[in-house]
Amino acid sequence: MSLKNKLPGLLGFGTAPLGNMFRNIPEAEARATVDAAWEQGIRYFDTAPFYGAGLAEIRLGAALSRHKRDDYVLSTKVGRVIFDETEEPAARNLGEKGGLFEFGRPNRIVNDYTADATLRSIDDSLKRLNTDRLDIVWVHDIAQDFYGDEWLTQFETARKGAFRALTRLREAGVIKAWGLGVNRVEPCELTLDLSEAQPDGFLLAGRYTLLDHERALQRLMPAAAKRNVDIVVGGPYSSGVLAGGTHFEYQKASPEIIAKVEHIKRIAQRHNVSVKAAALQFSLANPAVAAVIPGASRPERIAEDRAALAEVIPPAFWHEMREQKLVAADAPLPVDRKQEK
Ligand SMILES: NC(=O)c1ccc[n+]([C@@H]2O[C@H](COP(=O)([O-])OP(=O)(O)OC[C@H]3O[C@@H](n4cnc5c(N)ncnc54)[C@H](OP(=O)(O)O)[C@@H]3O)[C@@H](O)[C@H]2O)c1
Repeated sequence: MSLKNKLPGLLGFGTAPLGNMFRNIPEAEARATVDAAWEQGIRYFDTAPFYGAGLAEIRLGAALSRHKRDDYVLSTKVGRVIFDETEEPAARNLGEKGGLFEFGRPNRIVNDYTADATLRSIDDSLKRLNTDRLDIVWVHDIAQDFYGDEWLTQFETARKGAFRALTRLREAGVIKAWGLGVNRVEPCELTLDLSEAQPDGFLLAGRYTLLDHERALQRLMPAAAKRNVDIVVGGPYSSGVLAGGTHFEYQKASPEIIAKVEHIKRIAQRHNVSVKAAALQFSLANPAVAAVIPGASRPERIAEDRAALAEVIPPAFWHEMREQKLVAADAPLPVDRKQEK
């Protein structure tokens, strides 16, 4: 049930920004960003119906249509169905993440984790992506950040609906893998506790980053490793602030977060290290992690991601991060792996 043998490398590309997450991205810029990812050798692409109410899927599908389908791995998500009729994007109830995708398409989004909606959503995604198959399907955002206390009700619907539908599709060979795509650790823990659900992995966003990893480290990673369930790390830059941007958790970063990033930056500068490199390499150092999928809406970011992955970080940087308690004492670091060899 592992993902590691299904993913073409440690670096993928996340298309949430291409759904006009924070700004109205010109079509040519969105296209150039996917093309840059391809040119940089990236062959795993993640998207979702939710990203701009279909916009990211449409843009990704158009950009990938000139490549052979066998040459890349594609994941999208279920749990939100996109309708033809429209609504006011700014008025959507998105829990803590209000305002997200305001610049996306205005199509009505309906949360639905039943089996029927799962199948419908996959059909719709195939059309928008202009392809005949998906490799991985994530059940999207059944968690507290979008549903507050109602999240367990949504989870229960997904358990009886989406989880079973996706298990059947995997058994029939229609998809290769499924799991959850969430910004919270608890739904992943709960899924691992179910004997009937056998996910292949989790797309865990923002919860195994330099800025936030304690709970996943202590609880999810060991449980996932025991079950051979791999983690794909989404939001490795905490939605931007670790890469020079201004967002944390998809909102304007607070002064506390900015101060913490500045602290990391000062140490990084002393060791001639980029924070971007530290962020990507930290997430990948945990043996449960199969890949990182930073997002971007500008083509030049992809070369930065590649360079960040290849950057040689001196061990002294990691030792200082640990000494200054900027990473959990027992978080695996790249320097530990080197020492093990
Ligand atoms: N629930 C889920 O399943 C879930 C949740 C979150 C994320 N994900 C997945 O994970 C992927 C990655 O997460 P993410 O895209 O939300 O966040 P991220 O990868 O943590 O950060 C991406 C942001 O960093 C910014 N950035 C990169 N380099 C920069 C630089 N040099 N200066 C300033 N800003 C810079 C990008 O800005 P630009 O846009 O300007 O390039 C982009 O907005 C998503 O795209 C999605 O595929 C899944």
